[in-house]
Amino acid sequence: MKIFKIKKSKIRNIDFENLDFGSVFSDHMFSCSYVDGKWNNGMIEPYKPILIDPSARSLHYGQACFEGMKAYKDKNGKTWLFRPLENYKRISKSCERLAMPVPNKEIFIEGIRKLVELDKDWVKPGLGNSLYIRPFIFADQPSINANEANQYKFMIICTPAKLYYSGKVKVKIEKSYSRAAKGGVGYAKAAGNYAAQFYPTMLARDRGFQQIIWTDSSSHEYIEEAGTMNLFFRIDDTLITPPTSDSILDGITRKSLIEIAKNSGIKVKIRPLSVKEIVNAHSSGNLKEIFGCGTAVVVLPIAGFGHEDNYYEMKEIKNSWSATLKKKLNEIQYNISKDPFNWRVEV
Ligand code: PLP
Ligand code: COI
Repeated sequence: MKIFKIKKSKIRNIDFENLDFGSVFSDHMFSCSYVDGKWNNGMIEPYKPILIDPSARSLHYGQACFEGMKAYKDKNGKTWLFRPLENYKRISKSCERLAMPVPNKEIFIEGIRKLVELDKDWVKPGLGNSLYIRPFIFADQPSINANEANQYKFMIICTPAKLYYSGKVKVKIEKSYSRAAKGGVGYAKAAGNYAAQFYPTMLARDRGFQQIIWTDSSSHEYIEEAGTMNLFFRIDDTLITPPTSDSILDGITRKSLIEIAKNSGIKVKIRPLSVKEIVNAHSSGNLKEIFGCGTAVVVLPIAGFGHEDNYYEMKEIKNSWSATLKKKLNEIQYNISKDPFNWRVEV
């Protein structure tokens, strides 16, 4: 892998205390091309705009997917990744579903490691600080023939991150629009899945909600996930999350929290959850917590939810499971505690 370093870092110009998520990028980027049926070894070079043909297929037909992961710094200055192989497995599934070539595992992992190593000063110490890593693949074959392309780019860029949301997050349970259908691409991290959410989310935002809780596309009776996170519901003393399916993203944070919760003696049930059950549990006072989870949001308590014309406020509770689980997850990610699951990978 060729590495071309920047002459002068731009890090001094960055206000790390006031970061707008995903709008500042570290000094370097990785890129690798797929031509003539194979991926080349890729290179790292200074972060810069790329040249793309106006007919590149991803621009027209959305043949593009991505991953999201983070690097964390511990108090001794060491940098850590969290379950990077899971991101590789998931991008492989996304590529397969979108008829794109799967990147080579060594190139994926080495590209991330080398890039993060080079830009390690962009990973700030302190709980809540991280470097968000965005690997992505898109068809850059110049041709608007509506078929799978034979030319692709795999790139990795990094953006320093703090909180994804500031303030309380309210969600709207969606009854009309759908994020993903059976047999579709909901389980893939397909670029188009996000584009399709923007309009309904904009409408929800106009009504005071930050995100949507998507329900199944056929009956709108069952909870699926939110726009950028999987969901957990604590009803009495059971933590419930819907099972992943072809319309739900198999979140790495979700599966990690399930294991941490079980390991902490919390009763976890993975089962379908209807909107009716949530509304009834709220009315009877048994719905204790709702929280979302994902790489960008980490663990996010939900302040309340809207359903049809009603709004259901969640009561704040002491010793919430969301806070406990977030703490335990962070302690593993930031190398504060032992890592009984072997999830941390040193850069
Ligand atoms: N669901 C969607 C639609 C997402 O975009 C994300 C974010 O990556 C998640 C769930 C959570 O997945 P993960 O925990 O792997 O980041
Ligand atoms: C992530 O958490 O990695 C996501 O994909 C959210 C992102 C769309 C901001």
